[in-house]
Amino acid sequence: MDDEQEAALRTAFERLTAYRHSVFSRPIKAQLGLDEAVARFRTPLGEDGMVAKDVIDQMVDKADAGISQMSSPNYFGFVLGGSHPVGVAADMLVSAWGQNCGSSAETPSMTGMERAVCDWVIELLGLPPESGAGIVTGASLANTAGIMAARNALLAKEGWDVEKDGLFGAPEISVLIGDAAHSAPFAALRYAGLGAARAIRVETDDDGRIVSDAFLAALYQCKGPVLAVLQAGQINTGAFDPFAKIVPALHEKGGWAHVDGAFGLWLAAVPELAPRLAGVELADSWAIDLHKWLNAPFDAGMVICRDRAPLVASMSARGAYLPETSDHWEPSDSTMELSRRARGVPSYAIMRSLGKTGIREMVFRHCQLAQNLADVISGEPGLKVLNEVSSNQVAIRCGEGDAANDHTREVLRRVQKNGKVYPTHGEWQGGEIIRVSVICYATQQKNIDLLAEEIVSAWRAVRDA
Ligand SMILES: Cc1ncc(COP(=O)(O)O)c(C=O)c1O
Repeated sequence: MDDEQEAALRTAFERLTAYRHSVFSRPIKAQLGLDEAVARFRTPLGEDGMVAKDVIDQMVDKADAGISQMSSPNYFGFVLGGSHPVGVAADMLVSAWGQNCGSSAETPSMTGMERAVCDWVIELLGLPPESGAGIVTGASLANTAGIMAARNALLAKEGWDVEKDGLFGAPEISVLIGDAAHSAPFAALRYAGLGAARAIRVETDDDGRIVSDAFLAALYQCKGPVLAVLQAGQINTGAFDPFAKIVPALHEKGGWAHVDGAFGLWLAAVPELAPRLAGVELADSWAIDLHKWLNAPFDAGMVICRDRAPLVASMSARGAYLPETSDHWEPSDSTMELSRRARGVPSYAIMRSLGKTGIREMVFRHCQLAQNLADVISGEPGLKVLNEVSSNQVAIRCGEGDAANDHTREVLRRVQKNGKVYPTHGEWQGGEIIRVSVICYATQQKNIDLLAEEIVSAWRAVRDA
């Protein structure tokens, strides 16, 4: 590395540190519109290069106004973690080390750290210790990998090798999924060739949980192999499917239970909260995000499979120059990529830094804060919390009757425009909601107080207008 390159590294470090200090005092939403932001960057590439440090400075200067403060404790949009600074520090090392961690033989230290993350997450969540796991980009691909492992195992039981022969002519797999499931597992069903529209959508209750009697009735209608795609953490309500009631019945029929636990599965790490997802550990595969509740920098998630063999059978890509699969954990055996960055390493740093107690405290605190918010909001005439607060999500509707959708949209618009806090939009029970996700590592009661104040005062202004 020469001096010019080192200057670029130092500049990046200074600018990113300044950014993280400034997050608390900036408007939360990006101030630059998409067209203007794109126009700033999408200029012709010159014949001549630029000094490396100037490139970094220019990037930061031009990007600055077009960044939303997703790492702020006042960001409550979607379901996003806040990129914990310890994880960011480790992420810088990951880039600097430049390891292709698809192969353990070439970069054993990366494999060691990622394997520790897999062990720790499996243990914290109380999942079967013999499970196999792969570190993927997020819950979308974790769901895909889990569903592909299910496809392999269910068809193998029917004497069909899907890896060799594909799906044409294969025995049909019936897929059961809750009517209020996230779009990601539906996409995963498409990626796995199982089709999204042919899945049987099972009735759900007011909080989006599968109704167990409806599930059992649908299950008993199924002929042949059955895959059930269940949910730990409904996106609008944070609710959990009744795993303990439905997974044993599914297993009696030889079926496979996959759980989309993108954020909600983290409650299993907290002894006081784990009963809310009782029976989740009985499933066969699980998808979980590291970039949501663990607050790892994007992008990181995990697929976990009780039986490692179908995961490896469906994911691994062997080549003459690659090490043989063995019972040691080979990264590229459990994910779709051969070449990839060591994306599990930031999670290693965060888990080491927080320890089990710190992780449990964070998840518990967020659930408590979500409940505190719901209590305040419910106390304001005209505002309604639509969900039982099962975890960290709160669904808020403003006003009554025909005006409720417009009122809710307008309150959200004002809150977002004010720039102090940032919840986002959702749709629930047939109408608009303000959806709050309490998930940033740094969020405390004072941030919830501010959020409640902003929503209540915007609502009063809209109501009295
Ligand atoms: C329940 C659920 N499943 C899956 C996903 C997709 O996760 P990712 O964006 O990490 O791929 C999300 C994202 O919010 C989610 O909430």
